[in-house]
Amino acid sequence: MTQAPKQNGYAAEYRRSLEDPEGFWLDAARAVDWTVAPTRALDASEAPLYRWFPDGRLNTCHNALDRHVDAGRGEQLALVYDSPVTDRKTAFTYRELRDEVARFAGVLAGLGVAQGDRVVIYMPMIPEAVVAMLACARFGAVHSVVFGGFAARELAVRIDDARPKLVVAASCGIEPARVVPYKPLLDDALALAEHQPEHCVIRQRPQCAAEMTGRDLDWDRAMATAEPVGCVPVAATDPLYILYTSGTTGRPKGVVRDNGGHAVALRWSLENVYDTHPGEVFWAASDVGWVVGHSYIVYAPLLTGCTTVLYEGKPVGTPDAGALWRVIAEHRVTALFTAPTAIRAVKKEDPRGELLHAHDIGSLRHLFLAGERLDPETYHWATDLLGVPVVDNWWQTETGWPIVANPMGLEPHPLKAGSPTVPMPGYDVRILDATGRDAPPGADGAVAIRLPLPPGTLLTVWQDDARYVRSYLSAYSGHYLTGDGGRKDDDGYVYVMGRIDDVINVAGHRLSTGAMEEVLAAHPDVAECAVVGVTDPLKGQVPRGLVVLKAGLDRDPRDIATELVAAVRDTIGPVAALRRVDVVAALPKTRSGKILRRTMRDIADGRDTELPSTIDDPAVIEALRPVLRDDL
Ligand code: COA
Ligand code: AMP
Repeated sequence: MTQAPKQNGYAAEYRRSLEDPEGFWLDAARAVDWTVAPTRALDASEAPLYRWFPDGRLNTCHNALDRHVDAGRGEQLALVYDSPVTDRKTAFTYRELRDEVARFAGVLAGLGVAQGDRVVIYMPMIPEAVVAMLACARFGAVHSVVFGGFAARELAVRIDDARPKLVVAASCGIEPARVVPYKPLLDDALALAEHQPEHCVIRQRPQCAAEMTGRDLDWDRAMATAEPVGCVPVAATDPLYILYTSGTTGRPKGVVRDNGGHAVALRWSLENVYDTHPGEVFWAASDVGWVVGHSYIVYAPLLTGCTTVLYEGKPVGTPDAGALWRVIAEHRVTALFTAPTAIRAVKKEDPRGELLHAHDIGSLRHLFLAGERLDPETYHWATDLLGVPVVDNWWQTETGWPIVANPMGLEPHPLKAGSPTVPMPGYDVRILDATGRDAPPGADGAVAIRLPLPPGTLLTVWQDDARYVRSYLSAYSGHYLTGDGGRKDDDGYVYVMGRIDDVINVAGHRLSTGAMEEVLAAHPDVAECAVVGVTDPLKGQVPRGLVVLKAGLDRDPRDIATELVAAVRDTIGPVAALRRVDVVAALPKTRSGKILRRTMRDIADGRDTELPSTIDDPAVIEALRPVLRDDL
């Protein structure tokens, strides 16, 4: 397999990526199999909307599966499924996975799904989820995976936006303490949605049988009669998938990923950032419903010819507190990628790391952590325990691969606790002050990226270019706004300190406080409300709700608070993890009526921030102080 030769270290490669993006990315593109090789890298003709490899044609599924079979890797393991919650383990060679995918592509095509049609996938961490994603890619259908921890309304919103021809789902997901029936959630979502797919293909699981209705088809039966379908080349700029992510409002944004730029960038990142090579075993302990799952459970390891581990269950806690180490040892994992919260959970249960001694994790070369800020304490604990580099990397659903990382495969950099290290090729990362000028080293500002973004990043928001421009490109001319705040030090290391908008990260899951506020505000007894993300020792952040009730109610406020917690769980899903709502007399505001969420968050986190000069009535915040400071 061709991988473009690495001639230089990081500094030269990075410089070249900004000064000569054509040369840099056309070289990187040589690692991908094209049916028509691109002659150009960047198409800026519709700036600020950019396209990569405009004249290239390829098939992502071919690159992920068939090319490895053709190259003699057919008997190598492509995917290992390890599911302690069902007590099952299975594995697929590249040949087996290709055959499954080709057959499921036949199911989709037989049901009338054509190139460009959307397919919503609502599945837990089972191999069929990966099969369904790659089957879409096989003939240019566009998948949109919805995370299983979301409730019916969130699924309905995504169905109405993506307008899928078909939905692929499973009868249930399995959480350590309970079976979660997915099919009733899907049925409820379709009752709420305006758009109706023609069919639903349901993977029945033994733990819970789904009731089938007229448009539902059974996965196994459909597969039994399907004809395998080959790979259909598409334009590099055609969409591969839509992945919805939380923004500042309740309406999620459909991040659109292309085929060509995505394949090139992910291929580059796995070797150069994650130092993982063909034949090695990569384990991203995340979920296919999140971007980490898309990029580093499914696409990057398979595009590279690695073995990927698909793990169903929590990698910590029940049923096996030492599961992380057991999986690494059993499958000879060379790189583990998870969120800091998972390591904090391990540390909480096994502070001295004694469970590690039962397993030989000698295969592990790196632990990569992303999804939320890596706090120095967790970093030091994991480094001391594992004796391998613990590598932070910062990115987001929109970018699909690291913006700032330590390029372990290209040129490892000295690690600095609290920093994900340096910008990756093509990302011209700037720290901007309030006026839009570059902030000096050491000064905090908004983290922005000068346009264009590199290949693999979002093309736009699904069917809404105007929203893409408004949400990401308008705050600072010529820049993409990441939504994070941070700074650079004198060595160019970037420190990402947290979101400057209403997005919060709960156990590595990205959630919108705005969406939770919408649910609270819809309660008939609520006059106004706010949701703020406060620091939590395990999950990084957790949401807290504060509500002011309508005057003259004759109800116990505690009952209303309980209803509000249940409403968020029912409407957004258990993953929202809103466990506490306080009824208060008033919310602090500016004189122009804006709720001072950040001030409340700072007080709840124990920071002694000065009250803003624009505050309307300081007595309101003083009255709230004891509530906010109360331990969770
Ligand atoms: N389907 C249904 N429900 C789900 C779900 C899914 N796919 N994923 C989570 N939930 C539910 C959980 O069961 C839990 O429900 P509960 O309130 O009834 O207990 C709730 O959503 C909150 O889940 P979570 O935030 O994951 O908390 P947790 O206490 O169950 O687990 C961790 C905490 C740290 C162990 C867990 O989040 C974890 O392992 N994270 C690893 C990293 C990761 O996945 N990162 C994502 C991006 S890299
Ligand atoms: P998501 O889109 O779910 O991947 O979430 C992206 C957001 O998570 C980023 O904008 C950051 O706020 C946060 N994030 C992800 N990785 C890191 C990291 N390594 N350090 C700090 N914050 C991070």
